This record gives sequence, structure tokens and C-alpha cells, in this order.
Amino acid sequence: MGVDVAVTNLSKSFGKQLIWKGVTLTLPAGEISVMLGPSGTGKSVFLKALIGLIKPDEGSIVIEGTDIASCSEKELYEIRKLFGVLFQDGAMFGSMNLYDNVAFPLREHTKKTESEIRDIVMEKMDLVGLLGAEFKLPGEISGGMRKRAGLARALVLDPEILLIDEPDSGLDPVRTSFINQLFVDLNAQIDATFLIVTHDVNSVRVVPDQIGLLYHKHLAMYGPREMLLSSDEPVVAQFLNAQTIGPIGMSEEKDADQLAAEADIKLPPLPPIPLQLEPSNGIPRRAQRPPGEWCRLNGITPPPGSFTPTAATSMG
Ligand SMILES: Nc1ncnc2c1ncn2[C@@H]1O[C@H](COP(=O)(O)OP(=O)(O)O)[C@@H](O)[C@H]1O
Ligand SMILES: [Mg+2]
Repeated sequence: MGVDVAVTNLSKSFGKQLIWKGVTLTLPAGEISVMLGPSGTGKSVFLKALIGLIKPDEGSIVIEGTDIASCSEKELYEIRKLFGVLFQDGAMFGSMNLYDNVAFPLREHTKKTESEIRDIVMEKMDLVGLLGAEFKLPGEISGGMRKRAGLARALVLDPEILLIDEPDSGLDPVRTSFINQLFVDLNAQIDATFLIVTHDVNSVRVVPDQIGLLYHKHLAMYGPREMLLSSDEPVVAQFLNAQTIGPIGMSEEKDADQLAAEADIKLPPLPPIPLQLEPSNGIPRRAQRPPGEWCRLNGITPPPGSFTPTAATSMG
């Protein structure tokens, strides 16, 4: 069913370089969140902090009652079993065929027999649409197929939380649309908590339930898709609508705070909010939390009448 991931006041620096501070959000169980941000804002660092590969300087990350930021190595080892991760580069072993790549975590971390492993590997290859490609090497297939193979591998231990780093990097718009549909279909089928990191504005408009924006060393906003897509907060509106007008400049550090403080920035009118992607035919509807659940989890009082789910997001 997925689990909530509660992040409170998280900060991280490398030496003197502050990456981000005061990051607070709760990823709702079973839902899809997307974390957006310009390159170099620490999106990958955030993912690595969530799985305990990078230790934050401050703050907590609580999953099922355990704080990843302060727990013992032994507890961390247990908690990590809840995660599936698709890293940005796919991280496939080049000399192993896809079958062995996908089977790898099962052979490493479980005592399953080869026949049990076979069933699981084939099921996951089927889920990501790669049946028939089991014996190909990663170097023989397209970038899109490599991402899907990495996804199959991230799924073999049946994760409660799936972290995906820039799945669309290097993919053309059509391949990106296919992989976006795959995420929505997968979420409906396995119902884990998803966090997808991207800077692809088209994906963020139609895939997630929640959107977060990392910008200028902090979490500028995190909330329901409709809330961010209709936000007139200059940084959010500029980024989500890929505009040149607004506080974000060519080089990201350009006097952003000062510019954001200037109230007379005039942004173009916001385009209409597109419908959220629905699971493909034959795949069950995604389970939905009651409206307002995100607000409760994130300690926010919903303004009356605001972000009522659209028809596309309220199907139960
Ligand atoms: N292990 C590390 N040691 C020192 N600096 C790091 C490390 N990992 C990332 N950084 C720095 O943190 C910043 C954010 O990196 P990253 O999370 O990869 O950005 P993004 O994924 O948003 O493009 C970069 O300036 C990067 O150089
Ligand atoms: Mg990155």
C-alpha cells in the first residue's frame, strides 16, 4: 500500500556549500510526487538522503516510525529494503544480460531458488514491457529500454517506496510520454509511494499527485498538482510554465531573492491545467486518498473551495 515518508527541517551542506535547508514535506503513501528543480539544486542529493546514502546535517526522515537520519546501521539496512531506486544513469551491469541484471537484487538479498527468481524476473519484465528482451545486453538496447530494465530491477524486491531519478533524461518526447504512462500504470498496480525527480515540465504537468520545487537552496513549494500549476508565486509559475520572464535567470544564482521580492514581475497568464494521466485500459483505477489528506499530512488548512480534485484525479 506504500508508506508515508515524513521529512522535517532537512538541511545538507558539502563543506561550505549549502545544498538546501529547512526542507519539510510528507510524501503521502501510495501517491506519486514529483520533485522539480533546475540542475544542481540538489535533487539527486535529496533522493540519496531519503535512502540514507547521504547523511543530512539537520532534520529527520521518518518512515514507519524510524528516523533514517539518526537510526543505527542495522535499522537503516532494514529500512532500505522498503526502497526501490532507479538512479539517473540506470546503473546496469554492462556485461550482464537484462535477465541477470534484474535478478541481481534477488540473488544478493534473498534466499529464493532460481525457479522462484525466474517467476519474479519475468513478472517484472512483463510489467515494464520488456518481455522478449531478457537476453539482450544493456549496450544493445535503446536508452528508453535501459530505463525500463532499471525500473524492473527496482521492482523485484516489491518496494513500498520507489525513487526515480530523471527517468526522462536523454529520452525523446515520445519515449518520455511512454515512460510517464508506465509510471501511472505501475502506481495503479503496485501502489507504492513514488518520488520522481525531473526537470521535464511536460511530465510534471500530467503525472504526479503532488509537485515539489527545489529552488535557491530551499523547497520553494510542495503541494497538490493543481495547486502548483495554478500558483502565481513567481518562481513556481515561471518554472512550471517554462517561461523566461520571472526571477529565474540564465545562471541560476542571478539575484533570485531580490528579483522574487520585486512584486511588479508580470508573468504571462497561466495556461489551463491539463487532466492527469489515467492508467491504461485494463489496469485498475489508482487508489485515491480522501481529498484533503495531503493537507492533513502536511499540516495545511485547505483554503475553502481550493484545489478540489478535478474529475481526472478524484476517480476512486
Ligand atoms: N558527494 C558529494 N560531495 C560533494 N558535493 C556533492 C556531492 N553530491 C552532490 N554534490 C553537489 O551538490 C550539488 C547538487 O547536486 P545534485 O543533487 O546532483 O543536483 P541535481 O540532481 O539537482 O542536478 C552539486 O553542486 C553537486 O556538485
Ligand atoms: Mg540529479
